[in-house]
Amino acid sequence: MPSSDPRVRAIHAWLAASAAGLGHPEACACAARAAGPDPWQALAAATPIARACPALASRDLGVDVRLRTLTPDHPCAVARVPAGAPFPQLAPQARKSAGGFDTPRAMAYRVVRAGLDAASGPVRRGLDPACGSGTFLLALHEAGVAELRGEDLDAAALAVAAVVAPSAHLQQRDGMRSGEAEDLVVGNPPFVPPERQEKGARLALRQRLPWLHGRFDLAVPFAWCCAERVRPGGGLCLVLPASLLAQPYGLELRRRWLAQHRITVLGQPEPFPGARVTVALVALQVGGVPAPMPPHGVPIEEVLALPAAPFSTQLRPGDAGLIARLRAVSVELGAHFEVDTGVVVHGAGHRRADLLSDLPGPGLLPYADARDLRRGRRRWLDYQPERMHRPKRPALFAGPKLLVPRVVADRPLEVFEDHSGLWVGHTVNVVRPTGSVLPLARVAELLRSRVTRAILRLERGERLDVYPRDLRSLPVPLAWLELPALDLQRAWGLDDQDWHRLEQVGA
Ligand SMILES: C[S@@+](CC[C@H](N)C(=O)[O-])C[C@H]1O[C@@H](n2cnc3c(N)ncnc32)[C@H](O)[C@@H]1O
Repeated sequence: MPSSDPRVRAIHAWLAASAAGLGHPEACACAARAAGPDPWQALAAATPIARACPALASRDLGVDVRLRTLTPDHPCAVARVPAGAPFPQLAPQARKSAGGFDTPRAMAYRVVRAGLDAASGPVRRGLDPACGSGTFLLALHEAGVAELRGEDLDAAALAVAAVVAPSAHLQQRDGMRSGEAEDLVVGNPPFVPPERQEKGARLALRQRLPWLHGRFDLAVPFAWCCAERVRPGGGLCLVLPASLLAQPYGLELRRRWLAQHRITVLGQPEPFPGARVTVALVALQVGGVPAPMPPHGVPIEEVLALPAAPFSTQLRPGDAGLIARLRAVSVELGAHFEVDTGVVVHGAGHRRADLLSDLPGPGLLPYADARDLRRGRRRWLDYQPERMHRPKRPALFAGPKLLVPRVVADRPLEVFEDHSGLWVGHTVNVVRPTGSVLPLARVAELLRSRVTRAILRLERGERLDVYPRDLRSLPVPLAWLELPALDLQRAWGLDDQDWHRLEQVGA
């Protein structure tokens, strides 16, 4: 009797097809067909199998509905795999390197709606250049887009797409290559951080797009290429990493998009199910006359006036002017303080434990990483610069200083004042006076304040981490150089309206 659960039917179909000698993509197509006639159900059941890798069982196994392996007679096992037979093995690392995370149906509907709304003129042709198993193709089909195209590198995911979206023209190819002009491009491009990208491919991308620099995620060139594939006036809507909309690695893309297209939707940052990443939807009309930035209608010149040109849903008209007024009567923190990260204790050929110990000893230096600072814990460092990845100078840690953990997530900055010569790890920023007259406690107060949080948010977008360059650039009121006791609002000469705006953004 076939199971009533489409996932179980899909697994059984894959196991039978593979045991009969079919390849992984063909077996995935069998899984999608066996899951049932509802394409969304087939997609949900067959996609995890397509994202797994075929492997041979080294002993008898059981498999549960989420493809976890168990003992063959485990109560959660929905299928048995005899030793030597093929089974779909979860492959989290391969999945991360390909950016193979699949979009929930409701999010795909929102993306397609926003893309259609962004387009001017009729929309006949729709493309997802990283279509995976076809989520967006199904959503485009339901929205009435007549000609569907899907591309992906993953043959198994494409085999599922061919079952669930049979009218789509599918190609196994690099979605960043150029192609015919489309009325609408939608999708969720691969998010792949630099360390997971293949070196040669990364170099080729830099040669092709010379403006790419820094630690760019693959989503940056991919998003750029998506817009290039849309006809003038056509629509584009993508699910993008929220960090790409704020952080330096996405700056050039943001600037170029602001100058060349009309941004029509900027979604609130939201979690992406199944992956530890925050995403946001961005829709634009390709080649459309630039218009104020949604959702609050911020003039483009104001977004571009901010150093990070952040695509931030927090930004309101007038914010850039407020920041400019405040900066006109400020000096950057970096003018009076050296700011750097702490030491990287691990290095080539050795582990952290080789140089760090929980007990003091002769020649060992007091040390803390961000977590230790929060817990008030100290460890002991055997400082051997030649064995360290980034050794730093001992002077950075000597004397009074502020310690600011790098990860802030959704919190104000944490600031620890240190007068004990503590060494810190690279998860902590060190802020050390260089002949400054500013009292350290006052600067600590400034860094912890809502206003600093507001300035970081407005200038640099929502952030998960603060780096030395972020801290160096923070404005300190010039008036404090004479009168450090002056309250911040007066020191900056801000009226109540400006002040409340900063407090509101920083809350
Ligand atoms: C985040 S998934 C999105 C899958 C599908 N569109 C969805 O949202 O459910 C990204 C997809 O990009 C594919 N991919 C990675 N690099 C690619 C490339 N250079 N060209 C085309 N597809 C690529 C992966 O195989 C994966 O299916």
